[in-house]
Amino acid sequence: MKKITIAIDGYSSTGKSTIAKRLAKALGYVYVDTGAMYRAVTLYAIENGFFGKENNDILGLIAALPNIHLKFKHNEKTGISDMYLNKVNVENQIRTMKVSRQVSKVAIIKEVRDELVQMQQNMGREKGMVMDGRDIGTIVFPNAEMKIFMTASPETRAQRRYKELLDKGEKVTYAEVLKNVEERDYIDSHREESPLKKADDAIVFDNSDMGLDEQFERLFNYAQRIITRK
Ligand code: DC
Repeated sequence: MKKITIAIDGYSSTGKSTIAKRLAKALGYVYVDTGAMYRAVTLYAIENGFFGKENNDILGLIAALPNIHLKFKHNEKTGISDMYLNKVNVENQIRTMKVSRQVSKVAIIKEVRDELVQMQQNMGREKGMVMDGRDIGTIVFPNAEMKIFMTASPETRAQRRYKELLDKGEKVTYAEVLKNVEERDYIDSHREESPLKKADDAIVFDNSDMGLDEQFERLFNYAQRIITRK
């Protein structure tokens, strides 16, 4: 059977990764969460004093890039891949608000993007891949056979992310999460380097009023049509 590349881009907290993981599992494809890579670099930047409330030492972080080693490792228990930063499992740490607050500022740095895009292109060389992010259909894999641009209202997305954070025991308010979602939307889509925008040949997928099963079925059927197309 022909293998394809599936690029899923869109705004933060649209549920890209949930649906991408499910698609990858059903198709027997590899799933790559590129947001986790930007988050891991951000965690490194915070832990090493390059980024914080007061300071943004962009040049310091760029100089330290060769010291940042990222790896996805399959987790037998959860069935998904965890992000490792310099051999340490940082899967939980990268999902905290501390990282969410800084990540857009790290993701605008050209040198960071160049490095991560190259890693992503290497991972996807064999096809049979579902990758989600902001620039997958436009920059990383402009020739991907299937491109989805996910969207949902900011309130729907903030509500989903708020629930996720509460479930993990983080002390946040809905208002703070909504503000973070809106700020990241703005920065992600207005930055100079690879701004979030729909690829010309991507399908817009608004899931504000759609459950997970319906989303999965629609996208799985769409993928099957592309795979079996001559
Ligand atoms: O998908 P996410 O919310 O985990 O992504 C975290 C941040 O990383 C997001 O605010 C934008 C950035 N990002 C990016 O610029 N390009 C990507 N391909 C993936 C994420």
